[in-house]
Amino acid sequence: MLTEVEDRRPQPQVPLLAASGLSKSFGGIKAVDNAAIEVAQGSITGLIGPNGAGKTTLFNLLSNFIRPDQGRVIFDGEPIQQLQPHQIAQQGMIRTFQVARVLSRLSVLENMLLAAQHQTGENFWSACLQFRQVAKEEKQLKERAYAILESVGLTHMTHEYAGALSGGQRKLLEMARALMVQPKLILLDEPAAGVNPTLINQICEHITTWNREGLTFLIIEHNMDVIMSLCDRVWVLAEGRNLAVGSPSEIQTNSEVLEAYLGQ
Ligand SMILES: Nc1ncnc2c1ncn2[C@@H]1O[C@H](COP(=O)(O)OP(=O)(O)OP(=O)(O)O)[C@@H](O)[C@H]1O
Ligand SMILES: [Mg+2]
Repeated sequence: MLTEVEDRRPQPQVPLLAASGLSKSFGGIKAVDNAAIEVAQGSITGLIGPNGAGKTTLFNLLSNFIRPDQGRVIFDGEPIQQLQPHQIAQQGMIRTFQVARVLSRLSVLENMLLAAQHQTGENFWSACLQFRQVAKEEKQLKERAYAILESVGLTHMTHEYAGALSGGQRKLLEMARALMVQPKLILLDEPAAGVNPTLINQICEHITTWNREGLTFLIIEHNMDVIMSLCDRVWVLAEGRNLAVGSPSEIQTNSEVLEAYLGQ
């Protein structure tokens, strides 16, 4: 009789996120033109390119904030083109914005609590019926929020209006909000833009720590020190198209990439 033997050969790794053939035009402008990207599970992957290269539009297409004209996106083994952005977030893919979107007139803590989705208390009737459960969940959420705020050094701002935060602190709050939903993949759109160098270092340290804890990242950034120090692999976009992909050192010495930057 045949016995099943465990297959110990290294398995080809399936990317956590894989997109191909993505295109989006605005009027006559092809913002993204037949672009592909892959993000390996557990990686910190970079996405770079000159201004207007289509990086943010690609994020919008990956997270379905904008519908692609063409293309396919697979996240965690499932096609996600049909899903709404909030459904994609529920599947574990969260994105942040180039200009941090925080709710200025709510406190930092309220911003954190609102980021958590699908709690029992969202539904009025279930809230009435499950009062104790709601109270318990609320307590757990608050504890989680306090712990995350402490890890990003925002504890002292917990009860301040989010509008009182500096640009860099807003970026931290956006990341902290993303962590509230325990995602698998976070897409960061220029986490270091407009942030002072000390805070940039802190942000990089947080990203490294969260990555070691199992979170995967895709990061758009113009700050090459950030990209080179954090990323395992870097994708380069120019005029909406894939220009290059490789390790940070390969990308740094790629003449086509240098030309694209110099030509802007
Ligand atoms: N909603 C829109 N309507 C019209 N054109 C748009 C829209 N969004 C982006 N574009 C255009 O698409 C192109 C790509 O823009 P995108 O913001 O994706 O570039 P980017 O690589 O993120 O640039 P940056 O590094 O400056 O943030 C640009 O020419 C931009 O003007
Ligand atoms: Mg952009």
